Amino acid sequence: MSESDKEKQKLYYPSPELATTARVKNMEEYKKIWKHSVEKPREFWAEEAKMVDFFTPYKEVWTGSTDDDFVGKWFTEGKLNVAYNCIDRWVEKGFGDEESLIWMGEDDTIKSYSFSQLKDEVSKAANALKSLGVKKGDRVCLWLPMISELAIIMLACARIGAIHSIVFGGFSAESVKDRIDDSECKVLVVADEVKRAGKAKPMKINLKGIIEQCPSIEHVAVVKVTGNPTYEYEKDVDFSALMATQSADCPCEPMDSEDVLFILYTSGTTGKPKGVVHTTGGYLVYGMSTNKYVWDYSCLLDLKGAEPKDRDVWYCTADIGWITGHTQIIYSPLALGAKTVMYEGTPTWPHKGRFWEICQKLGVTHFYTAPTAIRALMKYGAEEVNKWDLSKLKMLGTVGEVCNWPEWKWYWDVVGKGTGGEKPVGRPIVDSYWQTETGSYMMVNFGSITPMKPGSCTFPFFGCNPVLLNEEGEKINTPMTQAYFAYDMPWPGLMRTVWGDHDRFVSTYLTKFKNHYFTGDYAQIDEKGYYFILGRSDDVIKVSGHRLGSAEVEAAINSHDAVAESAVCPYPHSMKGSTIFAYVTLMSGVEGNEELKTDIVKHVRAMAGPAVKPEVIMFSDALPKTRSGKIMRRVLKAIALQGDIGNVMTLANPEVVQALVDERAKLGEIKF
Ligand code: WT7
Repeated sequence: MSESDKEKQKLYYPSPELATTARVKNMEEYKKIWKHSVEKPREFWAEEAKMVDFFTPYKEVWTGSTDDDFVGKWFTEGKLNVAYNCIDRWVEKGFGDEESLIWMGEDDTIKSYSFSQLKDEVSKAANALKSLGVKKGDRVCLWLPMISELAIIMLACARIGAIHSIVFGGFSAESVKDRIDDSECKVLVVADEVKRAGKAKPMKINLKGIIEQCPSIEHVAVVKVTGNPTYEYEKDVDFSALMATQSADCPCEPMDSEDVLFILYTSGTTGKPKGVVHTTGGYLVYGMSTNKYVWDYSCLLDLKGAEPKDRDVWYCTADIGWITGHTQIIYSPLALGAKTVMYEGTPTWPHKGRFWEICQKLGVTHFYTAPTAIRALMKYGAEEVNKWDLSKLKMLGTVGEVCNWPEWKWYWDVVGKGTGGEKPVGRPIVDSYWQTETGSYMMVNFGSITPMKPGSCTFPFFGCNPVLLNEEGEKINTPMTQAYFAYDMPWPGLMRTVWGDHDRFVSTYLTKFKNHYFTGDYAQIDEKGYYFILGRSDDVIKVSGHRLGSAEVEAAINSHDAVAESAVCPYPHSMKGSTIFAYVTLMSGVEGNEELKTDIVKHVRAMAGPAVKPEVIMFSDALPKTRSGKIMRRVLKAIALQGDIGNVMTLANPEVVQALVDERAKLGEIKF
């Protein structure tokens, strides 16, 4: 075994002082509580739900049953409001002047909101939405950069019971339209422009010609970021001006536990994106519970001996356009009464140490980012980190994809200041495994106590019972054996349905393995029971930790005039984890050249958003298909990687394979 292999397989320990104030004191206690949580989930979740203030108490914790109604209803007939739990209750308990959301702009502006100030801003935004006719149950689409208004308006929706559907700012206007249409949003909130790396970039103008085709939209609420002139549409409302005239008094709408809090679209294997539906009570309880135990930060719910003003400072670097931003920047930390940081910009502007500068400036104690960001930052070396005072940091974390050994080691050594040796000790790296669908973490190490294994998301969170299954649905208990990754019981934060398509929910997640939630991932355990995620078992491509559905990317490519057909697969990328490798069959008579490749890439980015970029395009006369006409992606992946292609006898057209192999050879070695 090489030195680095040995290093990789060691256990790494959290700094011992963390355990002294931990909410779960040690691994024995973790195991005991976990066992109780899966044996008596109703008892366990009833206890956890005490963290939430209900206007009307709930009747039953959970109505489901794992062999009949898998998901069930949680905290039935309880009435509550998420914004109330995030903001108002802290004001009512006398913490109105304490910091809540700390927003920092690219230009260093800091807007630190006390709970009272946040309440006022959210109430004004809520009244502004109401004045546009938005009522409980209406859908509001938010397409915004990481400006403070994004946080405020999402909380405003929660306050009045409107359902928000946030679309990542890096997606295209076309994708905004699809999402608006699918859930029939009444209002779209958009920024005039975006600030990126010191420059103003257009945003709203991209809607020209598209927003006119969204019949459900009654108003386009424009948030002024730069105030520069942009495309004007007859349904525009100056939302910044409207908010300024509103009263700061707006009651919180009592919502049923099972009322929808938000829809968030995510890519699936086939067809259009799925509107993942999260509800009010279960989502809130689950998010709070995971964050409280895993990170152990001091917060108003449990100050752990700190003065309110000296609470820990939580910084999650995600964009609110993804589930991580929803659950980990806004809802869970605020409901716990934490100080939560939201940053407008990118990690490398105006300099390569921006994240670490923010940690110093805002006194960050808990820092949560993605492996793709660590890979991008590690190439600038330790100097960029060491320039800053990170002495307040207690815990680090990652999410979105496997945190592989090189970036794990760098994070541990350079940011975590961990030791080497037989029993390495340092700032823990929390590896959290979850999905848009699952609300919050299902596999995760408890920062203060769990011994870590690099690349492993370790053990299940309370109430989650993971199982490894083979194709037939039989349990695989053999260590180091790849299997399908599923859960044999639900938890309160699990999605309830796909918006407008419950059958799709059932068929995607609950059908492959009866009475189980199937994640779509492969995983394995080692001899010690540590879980390792091995990647997607379906056609979802993870680029920089973000999910892209092959069908959507292909649809964007196919909409180019010169393209007859296409198929995409993941290809390794040193920064992004994977990138997109596209096989493109052109219309007859069209000549494939470099210029056309550039044009296709441009077209795809315009259709699907700048985040969607096929970095390799290979023209191919035909694609390998099964007799039923399905593209054989396994073969395409192998050809892209110039690996072993395996058996192609089941193909309808095995002869195309050699041509593709030859074509691929012409591209030579491709390294990102
Ligand atoms: C997919 C979900 C949930 C927030 C971000 C991504 C992969 C997620 C990990 C991890 C290995 C991970 C899985 C999962 N994934 N976290 N810690 N280790 N893989 O949310 O876009 O819904 O993607 O991300 O493949 O299924 P998402």
